[in-house]
Amino acid sequence: MNEPDTVAEFEARYLRDVLGNFPTSVVAVTTTMGDEPVGMVVGSFTSVSLDPPLVSFLVDRSSSTLPRILEAGRFCANALASDQEWLCRQMSKKGAARFEGVAWEMSRHQNPILEGVVAWVDCAIDKTVELGDHFLVVGRIGDLNVASVKRPLLFFRGGYGDYTSTAQLLLDSHLGR
Ligand SMILES: Cc1cc2nc3c(=O)[nH]c(=O)nc-3n(C[C@H](O)[C@H](O)[C@H](O)COP(=O)(O)O)c2cc1C
Repeated sequence: MNEPDTVAEFEARYLRDVLGNFPTSVVAVTTTMGDEPVGMVVGSFTSVSLDPPLVSFLVDRSSSTLPRILEAGRFCANALASDQEWLCRQMSKKGAARFEGVAWEMSRHQNPILEGVVAWVDCAIDKTVELGDHFLVVGRIGDLNVASVKRPLLFFRGGYGDYTSTAQLLLDSHLGR
């Protein structure tokens, strides 16, 4: 088997195309600067550790939102629901009024919890690690909750989709739905 010497041998487009086959959840990371809500969308949110309770996400080093999240030193990770594709598009757009038409309430740690999400995790930043062209932001969980019974918004092969459990499909076929 031919082993590549470095990842730099791959075209960025090819990396994106292949890695896009790994589905990700769509998460709005939020914080506040003064009274102003701040947010961005990531597909790189993951749980890290149960004891201590840690989660993480990765941010491009060119992100204009990252410095504000780091300055705040805290964030809330909101798992978007399948009916919130519009919110994902708005909150991932440079220069957009990212919170326009978005209802939210303040978490215990002063981060926006968005209305209508599936679940949220409220964190204090534990550490950041520079990794290639991204920063890994690790958060220590201060509070968390399931917010609704909605299905999650997923990102796969460059498009948005919905999650349906095989159990639900079996039930639907059994009931003739
Ligand atoms: C589905 C999806 C997943 C994304 N995942 C990430 C991610 O994990 N890390 C990241 O830095 N940007 C990610 N982005 C891009 C950012 O949402 C957005 O482009 C970026 O925040 C640009 O604005 P900023 O300069 O304010 O950060 C993703 C965008 C989308 C639509």
